[in-house]
This record gives sequence, structure tokens and C-alpha cells, in this order.
Amino acid sequence: MAAIAALFGLLVIAFVSGQNVEITPIKAVRRIGDELIVLCKVPYQIDSCRMIVGTTSYRLIPGNQEGDVVYSGQGLTTGECGAHIKNIREDWNGNVTCVLPPQSSNIEVTGTMRLLVARAPGDPHLISPPQPQFKDEDIFSAQCVVPNGRPAAKILWFLDDEQLLEGVHQPVVTDEPGSDLQTVSQNITRTIRADDNNRMLACRAEHEALDQPREAKRQLIVHYPPKRLESGPITVFGLKLGAEGKLNVTVRSNPPPTAVWMVGDIRITAPHSTDNGAITALEPLHLGNGHYNVSLHLARITKEDVERTYYLQVFNDLGREEFTLRMSTMDEPAGVELDTGAIVGIVVAVLVLLIAVFLGVFAFATDRWCFAGRSHRIDMPDGADSEAPLPSHDDIKGSENPTHDHAEYITNGNSKLPEKKPDTAV
Ligand SMILES: *[C@@H]1O[C@H](CO)[C@@H](O)[C@H](O)[C@H]1NC(C)=O
Ligand SMILES: *[C@@H]1O[C@H](CO)[C@@H](O)[C@H](O)[C@H]1NC(C)=O
Ligand SMILES: *[C@@H]1O[C@H](CO)[C@@H](O)[C@H](O)[C@H]1NC(C)=O
Ligand SMILES: *[C@@H]1O[C@H](CO)[C@@H](O)[C@H](O)[C@H]1NC(C)=O
Repeated sequence: MAAIAALFGLLVIAFVSGQNVEITPIKAVRRIGDELIVLCKVPYQIDSCRMIVGTTSYRLIPGNQEGDVVYSGQGLTTGECGAHIKNIREDWNGNVTCVLPPQSSNIEVTGTMRLLVARAPGDPHLISPPQPQFKDEDIFSAQCVVPNGRPAAKILWFLDDEQLLEGVHQPVVTDEPGSDLQTVSQNITRTIRADDNNRMLACRAEHEALDQPREAKRQLIVHYPPKRLESGPITVFGLKLGAEGKLNVTVRSNPPPTAVWMVGDIRITAPHSTDNGAITALEPLHLGNGHYNVSLHLARITKEDVERTYYLQVFNDLGREEFTLRMSTMDEPAGVELDTGAIVGIVVAVLVLLIAVFLGVFAFATDRWCFAGRSHRIDMPDGADSEAPLPSHDDIKGSENPTHDHAEYITNGNSKLPEKKPDTAV
């Protein structure tokens, strides 16, 4: 619909202004020194062709290829009036208009296209909060402004090498008063993550007149309290009495954490050892990306070491995290975690067992009734009779379905249903 309306609009404009010249392209962006071919076409033979580029009107003659604006096309007899424009100059920025003789009447027909002679914008500016560092989960907003481009520059956002597409607002283009240059600005909003620490936020300006994009950057520093990577108490397995032992925990923290261990009554702040050197709390070891290996070394494991619980407190100036650790001389229990195959197997086995038990019970019951040699009887589809005595039962709750199944089974088997016996049998 919109396309049709637009086409109709164009037709109306063409009619009103007396133009019926087809011009391609309608718009082009070129750098200074580039070239451009503009082609105008009418469905009849012409005997002249003019092109207005900048403030000059050029007469174009096929066969004359001298100069910066020369004829291009299949010849005047085909109704083509095109210009090959070479060495584009800054002052040619604006309209390019072809002027052709009319088919009838005496008013020349014209077609106009827009030539944008690209002009490199100024350097991008990244306007972001002045605070030197952020906290995990902070909402961060920044604005990038790229001034005075023709056309407006295109802004892209990056976090290191990763292009950011989420949280990028619509660019806002404003015309610079008194010139045909445009300034573009774009905002970005992002929730800061621990992973963003040390990453470089860049606003990149791309433009037709730039060989290399330009960037404005800032580094994101993200601080957060120690976070644990696994939940619950930690047990370190496979330790041997009399041998050396290590307890270790991985935490994430920025700034780096301080670790304090409580071993029985002894408090050991890393990096320190107990007086006898038996137990050493090691300095948290940075594994990269804010992850730290916090560990405790025991020179020789005693029975007492295995029996007690170790408490670890890890903190920085934003908060703390606490851990409980135990040692075990057993191997890590294998197969504690059931895989899906095992779970399915167990469920199937239980179902098979249940079915077998039910079948057994029913077979037993029907056998008994068969041997009893009761006479056949007409089905009772709603099973009302068999349910009628139920209220006298103690365990009436939830027993409706089994009783119903019962009734159906028995009626299918064409056995007469004794008043109460099957219920008591179940
Ligand atoms: C360029 O052409 C457009 C229509 O095609 C017209 O509105 C505009 O005024 C022209 N500009 C100049 C500077 O002639
Ligand atoms: C972009 O951010 C600036 C400053 O942070 C603000 O003044 C402006 O209104 C924002 N623009 C949009 C379109 O959100
Ligand atoms: C202790 O370190 C080992 C070896 O790096 C690692 O596999 C294990 O996950 C760590 N234990 C904890 C609780 O972080
Ligand atoms: C963490 O520390 C423990 C104990 O010192 C050590 O065995 C383990 O290899 C360390 N893990 C890494 C990834 O450095």
C-alpha cells in the first residue's frame, strides 16, 4: 500500500512539474575525486542533451569525451541523455539536473538527482558517566556524538570485538545550521556485568569519506563482592591420612579478595601459616577474569583434620562470602548423579512392577469369581451399583478411581459383581 501511494505521489509530482524523465540514480554519495554516471531516458528520439552540475550547464555530445562532464548512453536516437561525471568536486554537492527536448510542445523536460559529495565527520565523542568504576548490575548509559558529516556518519557500538546490538537507541540526526552538514548522536543503555570488567567500550564512526572508521573508547571497570561459583558445602574427596592435603575454592571477586580460614580455633589469614607450619592459607591465586583459587594446604592430614569442618570467609570492600568445607578420605562417590538413561530405566522398571502386581491381583480375584460359578449378568455402564456401598468404607478418599476400574474390569469379564468382596480384596 505504502509503495503504491508513494508511486502515485511521484507520478503526481512528475505530472505537476511537467517532468516525465526517468533519471537514475535518484541519489548518490561520492567522495571528492570519484566519478558518477547519471542517466536520463525518454521514450522518444532526442536531438540534444544538457546536464546541470553544480552551477554549470553542460552540453553533452556523444563522441565528445573531453572534460569532466561528458556524454554517456546509447545515443540520442535511443532517447538516452546521460553524463559521466569525473573528478567530483566539493562544490558539485547538490542537484544534478538533465535537460532534454520535449516530445511535443516547446518546454524542455528535466530530471533531477541528488549528489552528496561526502565530507568526513569530526572525531566521535563518547559521553559517559564520569565515575571511574561501576558495580555489577549497574545500568550504564552513554552517548556517542559524531559531528559535521555529509551525509551523517553511521555509529556502531562495540565491547572489545563484540558488536553491541541490544540497548542501542535510534540514532538522532540533526542538521548543522548554515551548512549542509549533519551531526548524528546515538545512546546506548546496558546492564553492567562482572564479565564486562576491563573490556573496552567503543563507539565507532563509519563514513563514506573515511578510509578507516574512527573510534572513541573507554574502559569499563566493574567491581563486585566475592561470588561463589557452586552452592552448598564443599567436600574434598580422595585425601589420605598422613599425606599432604589441599582444600580449594574458586571465587569471583573484584577487587581481589582477602581470605580468612577458621580451622578449629585457629584463624589464618592468607597468606599465613600456623605457628608450627602445619597449615598454610595461600594467597588467592588469580586464574583470570576475576576468578581466584583460594586454597588451604595441610602438610600432613591427621584424623582430626578429617573430622572437623573448615570455615572460609572471603571478602573485599564490597561484601563477603562464606564457605564450609570438609575433607574425606573416601573417593568421590561415582554415579551419585543419575543420568537420564538411568532415571528412565528406573521409572520403567517401577511401572512394570506395578502393572505386574495389579495384573496378579486381578487375575487372582477373577479366578476366584470364575470358580465360584456365578451366573452372567447384564453390564452396568455407570457402575452405580458397585459404588453405592462405598460410603461405608473408612478409606473413601481417593478410592473412587480404583473402585471404578474394578467395576469395569469385572463387567467386561461378564462376571457378576459381588456386593462388597472385591473392595475388601484390594
Ligand atoms: C534540488 O532538487 C529538489 C527537487 O528535486 C528541489 O526541491 C531543490 O530545491 C533543489 N535544490 C537546489 C539547490 O536547487
Ligand atoms: C541520550 O543521552 C543524553 C545524555 O545522556 C540525553 O540528554 C538524551 O536525551 C538521550 N537521547 C535519547 C534519544 O535518548
Ligand atoms: C580445586 O582445584 C581443582 C583443580 O584446579 C578444581 O578442579 C576444583 O574444581 C577446585 N575445587 C573447587 C571447590 O573449586
Ligand atoms: C587451585 O589450588 C589448588 C590447591 O592449591 C591446586 O591444587 C589447584 O591446581 C589450583 N587450581 C588452579 C586452576 O590453579
